[in-house]
Amino acid sequence: MREPDLIAIKEVGQIGETIRRTQFSVIEELATMRHALPIIPALLLGLLALPAAAQDIEKGKDINGVCAACHGQYGPGGKKGEYPRIAGQRAAYLEDQLRSFRLRKRMNIPMFPYTQERELSDEDIKDVSAYLAGIELPTKWPQFKDNDDALTRLTAMEKVMIVPRAEGNVDNGKAIYQKHCASCHGKTGKGRGKFPMLIGQYTNYLMKQMDAYVKGERPHDDNDSRGILVEFKTSDMQDILAYLTTLQDSQQ
Ligand code: HEC
Ligand code: HEC
Repeated sequence: MREPDLIAIKEVGQIGETIRRTQFSVIEELATMRHALPIIPALLLGLLALPAAAQDIEKGKDINGVCAACHGQYGPGGKKGEYPRIAGQRAAYLEDQLRSFRLRKRMNIPMFPYTQERELSDEDIKDVSAYLAGIELPTKWPQFKDNDDALTRLTAMEKVMIVPRAEGNVDNGKAIYQKHCASCHGKTGKGRGKFPMLIGQYTNYLMKQMDAYVKGERPHDDNDSRGILVEFKTSDMQDILAYLTTLQDSQQ
């Protein structure tokens, strides 16, 4: 037999072994779970209380197939922030933005055809948002086990998203952020309710959005049409962005 065939057979054997081991550990886990039965109803109730449970995540995953052409399979965005990251963003915010694109309240020429009513119904918007919100993009390189196969490794590596540190005065950025932004975007930049997560997003994308708010092209908050951002100099905004890039590790 030729060398590559042998390697292939060995690999198939290894995959089989991995599957067997996984099955075994599932059985083992189920066995130990019998002792933990009383907590299961509580767990189920907890799951039912999550609003996302009402959404069809599988359907959301299908819909994301279209979005992936620009935002990537796991929603990390790309082209240095021309396409923003949408994975792990808050579901309520994603829904809001998709509806604004559809209404043309927020202009997005590349996305407009994908958000028209016949393409993306209200239910679709909820499903795809729930799916995307649930994707976690780690900020650290994964540690592999010896028996992890090539596909597992590749998938894990593809999901890693680390926004490079941005230049700026981090102390000044921190002071402004914590005083003026944290009340809505959260102390660690993860967002809150419908207020978007800002950490883990491309710096130049965020800068472009702040510019759009200041110019009145996109409404930021309810204070006035341009919102709180008009109060700050461009250099302050750069400092805020520099500070946000230091916060990514607290994401996990
Ligand atoms: C043809 C390319 C393209 C496709 C396909 C596409 N998008 Fe986008 N999307 C963009 C671009 C470009 C932007 C950034 C617009 C801007 O700069 O304001 C964007 C922005 C967004 C935003 C706003 C992100 C934020 O943080 O403000 C969301 C949410 C979004 N897209 C979701 C989706 C979903 C869901 C789909 C699939 C139904 C999709 N997109 C399909 C190009 C695309
Ligand atoms: C009163 C609540 C509130 C405060 C305070 C606030 N924001 Fe926002 N921010 C919002 C809302 C709401 C949105 C989404 C707006 C929309 O629908 O376009 C947003 C969106 C953003 C976005 C765009 C995110 C994206 O993915 O497109 C950036 C950047 C941003 N805010 C930066 C800031 C900064 C910097 C500060 C502090 C100087 C700040 N915000 C303070 C409510 C707030």
